[in-house]
Amino acid sequence: MIKENKYTLEKITYVKQWTDHLFSFRITRDAGFKFIPGQFARLGVKKEDDTFVWRPYSIVSADYDEELEFYSIIVPDGEFTQRIKDIKIGDDIYIDKTNYGLLTTDRFENGKDLWFLSTGTGLAPFISILYDFSIWEQYDKVILVHCAREAEELTYQETINSFFNHEYYGELVKDKLVYVKILTRDTKDGDLYGRITTLIENGELEKYVNVPLTISDSRIMICGNPQMVDDTRKLLATKGLTISKRANPGNMAVENYW
Ligand SMILES: Cc1cc2nc3c(=O)[nH]c(=O)nc-3n(C[C@H](O)[C@H](O)[C@H](O)COP(=O)(O)OP(=O)(O)OC[C@H]3O[C@@H](n4cnc5c(N)ncnc54)[C@H](O)[C@@H]3O)c2cc1C
Ligand SMILES: NC(=O)c1ccc[n+]([C@@H]2O[C@H](COP(=O)([O-])OP(=O)(O)OC[C@H]3O[C@@H](n4cnc5c(N)ncnc54)[C@H](OP(=O)(O)O)[C@@H]3O)[C@@H](O)[C@H]2O)c1
Repeated sequence: MIKENKYTLEKITYVKQWTDHLFSFRITRDAGFKFIPGQFARLGVKKEDDTFVWRPYSIVSADYDEELEFYSIIVPDGEFTQRIKDIKIGDDIYIDKTNYGLLTTDRFENGKDLWFLSTGTGLAPFISILYDFSIWEQYDKVILVHCAREAEELTYQETINSFFNHEYYGELVKDKLVYVKILTRDTKDGDLYGRITTLIENGELEKYVNVPLTISDSRIMICGNPQMVDDTRKLLATKGLTISKRANPGNMAVENYW
């Protein structure tokens, strides 16, 4: 339960349907709502009996954007997504005033290469972080890995590719950003095929991006399917990579979606 003075009522301003089970939407942003790129918000819808359903959602937008964008799955019997799957411009949505989450780059110290490993909608927080100018100053390479089952689920390609020749980001980004599209159940339109875990284990991912995963240089953020997050974390631990904690900075920061 979130108390009444802890949330604001916002309006839907934009909806984009990617596939029958994936869509994005934007909402108005209260002037007081602050967040760090990589964090999530808690979104709410009101039920018929005036109680709420709340769910955490990673923010896709830049921290300076006027509105807030979210990228969502539609779960066939999901309590929240069945209520928002048909939202339209002008509809109501509630948002908790608090910003949440530790999937932020301030978890890391030093490091040369920033890796984003995502499955499905786990891509969302990394789009927000791409808009953070400080990462382009700090890192030599920023490697964005998006793994999905099928080609149509490789969403946000236009947004990601637009960074390479963007008016403000282009010069900073063009020699640093490496975007890797991975598919597990389609055999075309990806850069690599197979699970992220398999591609790390067999060395294909490092070979493709031409950047090694090392304790000294790699700072790795992992987001999406909890089994993927766990398996990847364990696999990287075998190379000596550790979870980054405030008191003990390391290599990895992770977020599970369910
Ligand atoms: C920190 C955090 C951030 C999140 N950010 C996002 C986000 O940006 N976009 C988003 O779509 N979801 C995100 N989620 C998941 C989201 O909160 C809901 O679980 C999701 O919207 C489904 O809600 P639901 O009530 O319809 O189904 P739920 O009852 O919440 O979930 C039912 C089942 O659906 C599956 N599922 C849930 N979410 C996903 C997903 N994203 N992709 C694939 N399968 C899923 C799982 O098997 C889960 O057990 C996040 C979760 C957490 C904890
Ligand atoms: N048309 C539809 O209605 C439709 C289509 C797609 C999905 N769905 C449903 O939507 C839900 C979510 O599907 P999703 O595809 O977004 O999420 P998902 O099941 O988490 O899969 C996303 C990606 O993560 C990979 N992955 C899963 N577990 C992993 C692990 N342990 N290690 C490494 N990689 C792993 C998957 O590879 P694998 O392919 O090898 O599992 C896939 O490439 C599912 O319940 C699914 O049934 C519905």
